[in-house]
Amino acid sequence: MLNCRASAPAVGLRETGASSYRMVQRMTEWTPAAASTASRGARGLEPRVLTPDSPAIQVEGLKKTYRTALGTLNLFDDLHLRVETGEMVAVVGQSGAGKSTLLHILGALDVPSAGTVYCASTNVAELNGRRAAEFRNREIGYVWQFHYLLPEFSAQENVALPLLARGIAKAEAMAMAANWLREVDLDDRRSHRPGELSGGEQQRVALARALVNQPRLLLADEPTGDLDETTAARVFDLIRRLHQSHQLTSILVTHNMDLASRCTRVLRLEGGRLVPLQAAANATQFPGN
Ligand SMILES: Nc1ncnc2c1ncn2[C@@H]1O[C@H](COP(=O)(O)OP(=O)(O)OP(=O)(O)O)[C@@H](O)[C@H]1O
Ligand SMILES: [Mg+2]
Repeated sequence: MLNCRASAPAVGLRETGASSYRMVQRMTEWTPAAASTASRGARGLEPRVLTPDSPAIQVEGLKKTYRTALGTLNLFDDLHLRVETGEMVAVVGQSGAGKSTLLHILGALDVPSAGTVYCASTNVAELNGRRAAEFRNREIGYVWQFHYLLPEFSAQENVALPLLARGIAKAEAMAMAANWLREVDLDDRRSHRPGELSGGEQQRVALARALVNQPRLLLADEPTGDLDETTAARVFDLIRRLHQSHQLTSILVTHNMDLASRCTRVLRLEGGRLVPLQAAANATQFPGN
């Protein structure tokens, strides 16, 4: 039986991916009790008033400090970021620069040490556990380098999980999942388990799972990093197509400069700040092919 809570995979989870896997679990959490208060600001604060030209994301004065046995690690240096609605922004940078940490903070999977992180009218930095879970489920689609699909479930069941976690009836959730698998051209792989799919197909299922709740923001952390060049290009093309057709605002972390340069903007994370690298040729807010 499909049970979204009994979801820890028995096999197939890399040790190094365990923390990311826990993040996937947190992405599919849903707290019905929080739903009734979802439209209010965090901790009872009034939400920021939006104007027509308000950005989709506005980060100001972001700091993240880790205290380790070897001392204090200051990851961001008053980092600022403004992303307009409909932009597809690539973030590049050396390993360890803090790209994943930045996405985790934007997606309410981690909390900053200082600063404000507005996604639309919500200051994500102020969200507590329950509201953060509700925010993630409602607003954020997250894709990782590794797909973290649950090996014992079919592709269709995997895509249905975030809907079931929200309390949507199984028949409806499965029908919506089937529609999403059609969108990522995997109609004929619905009943396949992840182990019966190619790497690119697994990532397309993960993309469908990320978007099935119709989030406004897509955060993708090296979504093509584990794929060969041709498959990576195809998955990237699919991300761009979905970004456009679903009018998403997307932030994509990648080490692949070819793919990054096809986004509307490229930012390099270095020295704790985001530095504009280049404007993509023919940049539009919803990049076409
Ligand atoms: N919980 C933690 N405690 C202490 N240090 C941490 C913690 N999480 C991450 N770091 C450190 O923060 C830095 C940034 O990590 P992050 O995963 O964001 O890098 P990244 O830019 O995504 O790197 P990569 O390209 O290799 O994925 C790293 O040096 C890492 O060791
Ligand atoms: Mg990373």
